[in-house]
Amino acid sequence: MPDASDTGQQTATSAPRGPRHVAIIMDGNGRWAQARGRPRLFGHHAGARRVREVVEACPALGVKYLTIFAFSTENWKRTQTEVAGLMSLFRRYIAKEMQALAAKNVRVRFIGDRVRLDAKLITLMDQLELQTAGNDGTHLTIALNYGGRDEVARATKRLAQDVADGKLKPEDVDEETLPKYLDTCVLPDPDLVIRTSGEARISNFLLWQSAYAEYEFIDTLWPDFSANELARLCHSYGCRDRRFGGVKT
Ligand code: FPP
Repeated sequence: MPDASDTGQQTATSAPRGPRHVAIIMDGNGRWAQARGRPRLFGHHAGARRVREVVEACPALGVKYLTIFAFSTENWKRTQTEVAGLMSLFRRYIAKEMQALAAKNVRVRFIGDRVRLDAKLITLMDQLELQTAGNDGTHLTIALNYGGRDEVARATKRLAQDVADGKLKPEDVDEETLPKYLDTCVLPDPDLVIRTSGEARISNFLLWQSAYAEYEFIDTLWPDFSANELARLCHSYGCRDRRFGGVKT
């Protein structure tokens, strides 16, 4: 679990600072490719290349936690070709980036339900998590077959099982208890959620965790997103007044 100084939680009175945890909905790959007359997967490959630049930018910006939405529980509705291409891209990305991520002191975790993912991909995910488990630099979390509602439902099922087994009393279930059952249990809540491509919706991403996040909906398509743009958004976040339901004192 992160210690109190590492949770990114700010109080109503603390001084403004950059976000400790940035979460990104990487949208717009398909439109980026279509604008170039190329298939959608071309855009996903270009998007994957952007991930490295953004991960590498985090330490200098004070971003300790980066969570990226790679594949949602709803993305299975896409064509078989696109889904298979994305799964292949994830396998290739993990195999290709494993050494570099480990060497750059990045700790990688995956969130989401693995049940629909293929065995080869799951093995690579396990390897990447294991290989980077001792790292304490940027905490990169990749949401793969992730949906916020699905996560809460799976968490509730486990919590209900603990109640049935007598490990937890119903009267002890509160706002502190439920997050311990979420996929993100070891992560602080996101401070800043960014969505690229001009869409202003959250699409089932980190529903519980983002209750008090600041949002940035920007027009840039994900394959055009840059470290400079991340820096701009982090700076702008630092100028915001987060009150967490309280009032400024
Ligand atoms: C949304 O754009 C993007 C996705 C569903 C996939 C995100 C995946 C990547 C950026 C690839 C690499 C990620 C990793 C971790 C290797 P869209 O296809 O919905 O774009 P559109 O709205 O323009 O159609």
